Amino acid sequence: MQVGFIGAGNMARGIARGWGRPVLATDPFPGRAEALVEELGGEAPASNFAVAERADLVLLCHKPAQLAEVAAEIASTAMPVASILGGVSLADLKAAYPDRPVYRLLPSTPVEVRQGVVILAADEPQDPRIDDAVRALFGELGLLVEVDDRLVDVAMGLMSNAPAYVALLAEAQVDAGVRHGLPPDKAAEMVVQTFAGTAALLRARGNDTLAVRREVTSPGGSTARGLAALERAGVRAAFQDALDAVLGVRS
Ligand SMILES: NC(=O)c1ccc[n+]([C@@H]2O[C@H](COP(=O)([O-])OP(=O)(O)OC[C@H]3O[C@@H](n4cnc5c(N)ncnc54)[C@H](OP(=O)(O)O)[C@@H]3O)[C@@H](O)[C@H]2O)c1
Repeated sequence: MQVGFIGAGNMARGIARGWGRPVLATDPFPGRAEALVEELGGEAPASNFAVAERADLVLLCHKPAQLAEVAAEIASTAMPVASILGGVSLADLKAAYPDRPVYRLLPSTPVEVRQGVVILAADEPQDPRIDDAVRALFGELGLLVEVDDRLVDVAMGLMSNAPAYVALLAEAQVDAGVRHGLPPDKAAEMVVQTFAGTAALLRARGNDTLAVRREVTSPGGSTARGLAALERAGVRAAFQDALDAVLGVRS
């Protein structure tokens, strides 16, 4: 399935690198689509229309505000259409691109190394052949998770900010060790490896966070005391507040 990228910015580049195949891409910024073609092979036609005409699947990678402008150029020929535009709902996409299969996806940046999460907004079956091809294509980039369209922004709020949160947690843990005398580089090595190992363990336990926590928390022991201190400091409330802040909700 030949994908036609409309916009060859950061996210398009990450997705294209994740797939690692020749691209068909366009971008108004001089040289941007051409640089992607130089890296991966393929072609950078002169217009959005030319890409849409030749692509089996058009992938909208421009900014959300350009939805109407781009649709005016390509809606007569683009079909089917997949979008990664943040904050643009399935209903908005179907209004801009009526009468054809339309898919709303939101990828995280690690798609570039095929370790991403790609959220797919759930929808009625459209064309089973294309539905399957789109799932397979984006599944190559990591974990494909289907959620209700109205929860896509919430899912994005969990996923896209998580690398920053995890980095902050690691930093806080390293600093705690340094305060008690550990060299920072050794502390960082241990903490990051522990985070990576814990992620692997959680996966092996079916993502059962409570089970993993219970396994390492002996009654009355040091882990129980550490967890109680984190609870007293309001760690859960902090995560609730953080997601509210991301979604622009008042808590
Ligand atoms: N970054 C993320 O983590 C992330 C995650 C999920 C989804 N998204 C979504 O992905 C989309 C792209 O984000 P990004 O971070 O890759 O932004 P970006 O780097 O700015 O890429 C957007 C590209 O589209 C180009 N463009 C502008 N007008 C266009 C037009 N009429 N036709 C074709 N291309 C056009 C832009 O060119 P100019 O610079 O010349 O305007 C730019 O090169 C956004 O809609 C965003 O909501 C981003």
